[in-house]
Amino acid sequence: MTWNNFEEFKNDVGKYPEFVDVALYIAENVAKNFYHYDSEVKPLSYGTKGRTFLVDNDRKVLKVTTDQNEALRAERIRGKHAPGLVGYYDVREITSQHDIFQDHYVSLMDRLPKMLVDDPFLHKIFDTMDDEYHFDTGGMFDSDLYKMTEKQLRKNIPIYFEEKFDPLGEWSTPLSEYTPEEQKRIVQLVIDIIRIQKTMAKFGIETPDLINKNLGFDDGGRLTFFDMGYGREGEGQKTIRKSPYVIERFSTFK
Ligand SMILES: Nc1ncnc2c1ncn2[C@@H]1O[C@H](COP(=O)(O)OP(=O)(O)O)[C@@H](O)[C@H]1O
Ligand SMILES: [Mg+2]
Repeated sequence: MTWNNFEEFKNDVGKYPEFVDVALYIAENVAKNFYHYDSEVKPLSYGTKGRTFLVDNDRKVLKVTTDQNEALRAERIRGKHAPGLVGYYDVREITSQHDIFQDHYVSLMDRLPKMLVDDPFLHKIFDTMDDEYHFDTGGMFDSDLYKMTEKQLRKNIPIYFEEKFDPLGEWSTPLSEYTPEEQKRIVQLVIDIIRIQKTMAKFGIETPDLINKNLGFDDGGRLTFFDMGYGREGEGQKTIRKSPYVIERFSTFK
């Protein structure tokens, strides 16, 4: 369902602005009036600062957020070659005559076909490594690995993890005891985590919320990070570099 203006929307779904689903209204209007998608806008998830919606026949995700840092980061990588990070098409701040829309941002991005949490094996491997390295607070593997090409990584990761890798968390099962197929997947996961961390460093995304829930796989099956917001309130706010880009506005938003 779409509405021509906010009054119509209020009459339809709620009388009082504070009870009105502002994010849904923004998503519907942006999808219809600015991106000109005729397909249904489908709510996908709820978060503390953001909501996501499927748009463009479920091919893209439209995120509505009040997290300005998230929008600034998304804008920084929009249209850029950023391996391992989700592709953004558009990032904007909403401006409107209605106060209720203040401080809302939208970003339009690729929809990843699969989430890490939906892959039980890699999800568990990721969590095991995360317990050791704490990726969400910037934790990294041995720094030598970050200087290697992917070809070199494929050769060296098995050596690096030979002694200390165990998905059950006991750190006793060497990598070589996994099936060849599992070993390949573990090595690729490490390669992809390194790829994401290198891209984040390149774009100055310093304290990413690099957790299992914010990772998925792209069309080629490679691990991809998609949530540029802070998961933890306030953390890292002081270290954010201001984007040199001005976020464009939907200034005609009614
Ligand atoms: N680009 C995307 N492709 C597929 N699913 C996505 C995408 N972005 C978000 N989602 C889904 O929506 C959920 C919430 O999105 P996220 O950006 O992590 O929001 P929050 O800020 O609430 O954590 C994700 O866990 C995922 O299931
Ligand atoms: Mg998230």
